[in-house]
Amino acid sequence: MAFIKPTQPKDEPTVDFSRLPRHVAIIMDGNGRWAKRRGLPRTAGHAAGAETFRTIATYCKDIGLEYLTVYAFSTENWKRPLEEVSAIVGLLKKYLLESIQKMERDKIKLHFFGDLEPLPGELREMCDRTNEISKRYDGMQVNVCFNYGGRDEIVRAARAFALDCAAGRRRPEELTEGMFGEYLYSAGVPDPDLVIRPSGEMRLSNFLLWQSAYAELYMTDVLWPDFTPEELCRALAAYQSRDRRFGGV
Ligand code: IPE
Ligand code: IPE
Ligand code: MG
Repeated sequence: MAFIKPTQPKDEPTVDFSRLPRHVAIIMDGNGRWAKRRGLPRTAGHAAGAETFRTIATYCKDIGLEYLTVYAFSTENWKRPLEEVSAIVGLLKKYLLESIQKMERDKIKLHFFGDLEPLPGELREMCDRTNEISKRYDGMQVNVCFNYGGRDEIVRAARAFALDCAAGRRRPEELTEGMFGEYLYSAGVPDPDLVIRPSGEMRLSNFLLWQSAYAELYMTDVLWPDFTPEELCRALAAYQSRDRRFGGV
């Protein structure tokens, strides 16, 4: 895998790039406040946030991260004004169009976690296409959580398991945590080691509830559009200084 040693900002804790977490997950929050501070419409914040996503995903690929999962739109975000929701869906389309063209070059595998059913048919087809193209690569996997909610994911998994039981394919007593995980959007993806939330909020907001059971959390006041590779290095360094015990000693 390509490995480019990134430049370390001065006076920052050093990241050991040979000991990176396998899976980093980010709640891309703070776009609205970023725009408000500049006297811009919230939609401008989302456009800036989409650029930050591009920068951070490329950096993660360059340092050799295996999995990056980002929260782009939650099951609760439909409560927002139609104009804002439409702008976010529009940005997804723009990003998909560009990334389909560039996938052969970038070799970033793109997956979607969430219910894509309410999206326009054309957009769903583009998501399916990126999934298909992604199967050809074995590089970094980026999971974009769109119309995603942790509770919704768990309910869907429970429903799918119950249907398998009703159809005689499974028996309730054989259900294990591992088997349940196979019914989640994240089937086959290791749990996130590090969950980052910019924008100063101290909550998960329905993000990867099952998968984050033992994730290390890193919160920062930086708003997502201002998030940089240096900021990511700070989070990685903090992660490397933690003592993960998983309930042991
Ligand atoms: C995150 O930024 C993007 C989405 C939730 C879609 P916000 O839009 O939540 O920005 P703030 O939290 O209002 O600043
Ligand atoms: C979480 O941010 C969802 C995404 C970043 C996509 P929100 O802005 O929706 O979360 P709350 O409302 O502050 O909890
Ligand atoms: Mg927010």
